[in-house]
Amino acid sequence: MALKNVKSGLLEMTDAEIFDLLVLYADHCRKLNDPSGFKFFIDGFKAEEEDVLQVLPEKEDQSLLGYHARMKALFPDYCLVCDELLQVNHKKQHLLTEFTDELYRHVGFPNRFSEMGLYLGNYRKTPFGVHVDSCGVFSFPVAGVKRFRLWKPEYVKKNPSLDRAFKYEKHKKASELLEARPGDMTYWPSSAWHIAESDGSFSATWSLGVWVDQPHKNMVAGSLKGLLDGKLGTTGAKVATAFKSLHSETGEVRELPDSYVQAIELLKNLTAEELQETFLKSWMQHISSQGFKIVPGAGVKISAKSRIRLRSKKSLILWQHGLTGKGVVYFSFGGATVVSKNSGGLLKLVQALNAGDECLVGTALKGAGLKEDLRSLQVLSDAGAFA
Ligand SMILES: [Fe+2]
Repeated sequence: MALKNVKSGLLEMTDAEIFDLLVLYADHCRKLNDPSGFKFFIDGFKAEEEDVLQVLPEKEDQSLLGYHARMKALFPDYCLVCDELLQVNHKKQHLLTEFTDELYRHVGFPNRFSEMGLYLGNYRKTPFGVHVDSCGVFSFPVAGVKRFRLWKPEYVKKNPSLDRAFKYEKHKKASELLEARPGDMTYWPSSAWHIAESDGSFSATWSLGVWVDQPHKNMVAGSLKGLLDGKLGTTGAKVATAFKSLHSETGEVRELPDSYVQAIELLKNLTAEELQETFLKSWMQHISSQGFKIVPGAGVKISAKSRIRLRSKKSLILWQHGLTGKGVVYFSFGGATVVSKNSGGLLKLVQALNAGDECLVGTALKGAGLKEDLRSLQVLSDAGAFA
């Protein structure tokens, strides 16, 4: 699908905005001396990590085009990929959530997540050739003209040589070419094989990839694993199983080792409440990332003297009462969960923050549980809850 001149808040993610994000993330990488999250390709070949740090965007480039001018002088064919811009998208994250919230209302909340990617350069072909990802992709060009060539999965199944191909002259007839400029949006589903093409002129495109590779059964299994880990205790960690006999003389296997018999008892004794609490806790933790791979986080240091408010009024701290322990409350933000026992103060504080208030931590939290509550708040803060 290629839509011209779409009306979306996402168009506020302009070339200037994307350049700022790139420099922010590049600065972060330079500080850590670690370019993870960036990939750089020269003539289709992936550059070594230590070299990537040398070619990242800098503030002095002033714009995407400024960066391109610097790169073009060095490389006739280069491609910069960044898939961690979400980490630094503090100012405009609400635009992404507005888009994905509406999307999720229609297609469901992703069991994996959405992520933000950026492709920039004058490369003639996607450096890894024709390929398919496990995600549906919305693309938003911010500079130049972007062309994507797509094939249906049925066609590639019959023509497997297309996989990772760079030369596909004879398959062009079976493909579809999408063309987009700044202001436009393209979309292809997770099943579409694709490659980006260019005549060697510069383009920059950011995209939102919605991953669809996590089936519900994995979510259920993941939640239960947490529950069972707790229930099985030290037995669960054993790496060998004691047994009386493996099988009868005829080869029949009919006897379970004791550890399994105990596991059956344990499963039979699980209550509906325990299951409800387990799944609700996992679900809350999952949705607390708002369907993104990462929530932009800047940990505010928390003390009793801190004055805090939510980073965004739309990104609430989620909470729920524990069902199996009295006075237990779980809180989640940005994929992190903390458990609080018998602290009405923390719940009141979170409710005030969620209502939009600015709060002085020391006024809300007092008494014996203060230290633990501050620790809990710090975890939520590190996950990006506060400003
Ligand atoms: Fe792709």
